[in-house]
Amino acid sequence: MEYVTISTLNNWKQKKNKFAAVTAYDFSFARLFSNQGIPVMLIGDSLGMTIQGHSSTLPVKIKDIEYHTRAVRKGAPHSFLLSDLPFMSYCETKQALKNTAKIIQSGANMIKIEGGKWLKKIIKELCDRSILVCGHIGLTPQSFNYLSGYKVQGKEKKDENRLIDEAFLLEEAGIKMLVVECIPSILAQKITNNLSIPVIGIGAGKNTDGQILVMQDLLGITEGKTPKFVKNFLTGSSSIQEAIKKYINEVKEGVYPNPKYSF
Ligand code: KIV
Repeated sequence: MEYVTISTLNNWKQKKNKFAAVTAYDFSFARLFSNQGIPVMLIGDSLGMTIQGHSSTLPVKIKDIEYHTRAVRKGAPHSFLLSDLPFMSYCETKQALKNTAKIIQSGANMIKIEGGKWLKKIIKELCDRSILVCGHIGLTPQSFNYLSGYKVQGKEKKDENRLIDEAFLLEEAGIKMLVVECIPSILAQKITNNLSIPVIGIGAGKNTDGQILVMQDLLGITEGKTPKFVKNFLTGSSSIQEAIKKYINEVKEGVYPNPKYSF
């Protein structure tokens, strides 16, 4: 099996080959996802909710991400792994460098951080040390208090312009990938077409280079109300393996997310 690298993902962007990504937190699912052909996995701080049962991502610690990154790496030795730096673990450059080292040493290929302009200096410092950094804009769950909840972002013209400016600024600072969460499809398309790095969407329509879903959402085991963009791929599938294959194919063919699952 070939290693998935940042060059692989850049080539797919150039060739307009869409790719499916998923969150993963443990060995067994990482191995299953990898065997079904998922090339990119995120050890997301969503584990605060999906694994630890908190009501937000805020309580997650660096040691939690380290632990789960190590487990996922064992199950998916060839996949491209990105891991979140949790809430308040990258506020200062020195702290960001120290925590990034822990995550990369646990097996991640790239770290992901949420935010805009304020990250410029930190991103530059990380990139100067050959760290692959993924940005995350739009609905940034670590800021849910500031954003007054989990709401679609970039609907107003001024917010749309701010998000476009942030995407450019982050790319200029050195990020090599960008996650855009819960933004209108048309805005995600503009960002994707104007950046040279791969853009992965979640609740951002079908016109991004890749899609990502939280694994519990795509397997329909999230209880209660799920966001509009979530599709349960286990419905109509006879196994988890088949559901994952269906997700991969629908993303590749641009079938998911159709307007029913987009803003
Ligand atoms: O933590 C996470 O799972 C994420 C995804 C929602 C992109 O950041």
